[in-house]
Amino acid sequence: MANEQNVVALAERYYDSDDADRFYFHVWGGQDIHIGIYEQPGESIRQASERSVQLLAQSLDGAGPDTRVLDLGAGYGGAARYLATRFGCHVTCLNLSETQNRRNREFTQDAALSHRIRIVHGNFERVFEPDASFDVVWSQDAILHSADRTRVMGEARRVLKPGGLMIFTDPMQADEVPDGVLAPVLERIHLDSMGSFGFYHAAARELGMVAEATTVLTPHLITHYARVREELTRRREELEGLVSRAYIDRMLIGLTHWVQAAEAGHLAWGVMRYRVPT
Ligand SMILES: C[S@@+](CC[C@H](N)C(=O)[O-])C[C@H]1O[C@@H](n2cnc3c(N)ncnc32)[C@H](O)[C@@H]1O
Repeated sequence: MANEQNVVALAERYYDSDDADRFYFHVWGGQDIHIGIYEQPGESIRQASERSVQLLAQSLDGAGPDTRVLDLGAGYGGAARYLATRFGCHVTCLNLSETQNRRNREFTQDAALSHRIRIVHGNFERVFEPDASFDVVWSQDAILHSADRTRVMGEARRVLKPGGLMIFTDPMQADEVPDGVLAPVLERIHLDSMGSFGFYHAAARELGMVAEATTVLTPHLITHYARVREELTRRREELEGLVSRAYIDRMLIGLTHWVQAAEAGHLAWGVMRYRVPT
C-alpha cells in the first residue's frame, strides 16, 4: 500500500512543479484542471471543462449569499469563481499546491471576488474546518490523489451541516477489473488503487449520507484524455518552450495508458451526489 504521507508529498511536489503548473495552465486554459464534457468534436478543453462545472452547479439551485461551499482540491479555483459569481455564495478553496493557490489568489483578486473566496493551503485528509460548517462540499477530480479516500469522505461528512450536500467527480476504476490491468494507470498517480462508484456509495452509506443521484459520464473520460493527448501532440513545439521534453514524453505515454484502460472498460467517471440527513 502506498504510504499516505508519501502520496501527499508526491502530489504536492508534482502539482507545485513548473512543468505540471505550466502544462495544466496552458493546456486547460488556466481555470480548471478536470475532465471536460464535450458536445462537439474538437471543442476546446477549456470550454468542455467549464461545462463540467456548470453540470455540477445545477445541483446547487437555490444557493445564495448564505451558502458556504468547501472545494476539496480546488486547483486554480475556476469552480469557486463560477459559483461565487453565479450564486453569490462563499467558497473555501482547500488545496495542496501553493503554486496553484498563488494563481487562484491572483485570478480571484482580478475578478473582484476575494470577499467571497477564501484560499487555504492544506490536505483534504485533515481538514482544519469546524464540524457542520458547510452547506456544500464540492470536489472535481481530486480525491483520486488520496491513499485514504475513506478518510477524505469522513472529513467531507464531518464538515457538512445537517441537510448538506457532497457533490463531486473523480476519475475511478470500473467496479470490477481484472487484477493488475490498472498498473500503468496507477503508476502515473503514484497510487495502488482508485475509487469506484461502488466504493464511494459504500463509503457514503457507512457515514450516514444518502445517495441522491449518480451520473455516469465515462465516455467523456475517454474523449477528454484523447483530446489532451491530441492537443499536446499538436502544440508540442510551443509547449516545449515552457515544459520539459521529458515531462511531455511521460505525459503522452500516461495519457495513452488512460485512454487504453478506459476503452477496455476498466475506468469510470461521473458525478456523485450525497446528502447528509437533516
Ligand atoms: C486534477 S486537479 C483538479 C483541480 C480542481 N479541482 C479542478 O477541477 O480544476 C487535482 C487537484 O487536487 C489537489 N490535491 C491533490 N492531493 C491533495 C490533497 N491531499 N489535499 C488537497 N488537495 C489535493 C491538487 O493540488 C490539484 O489541484
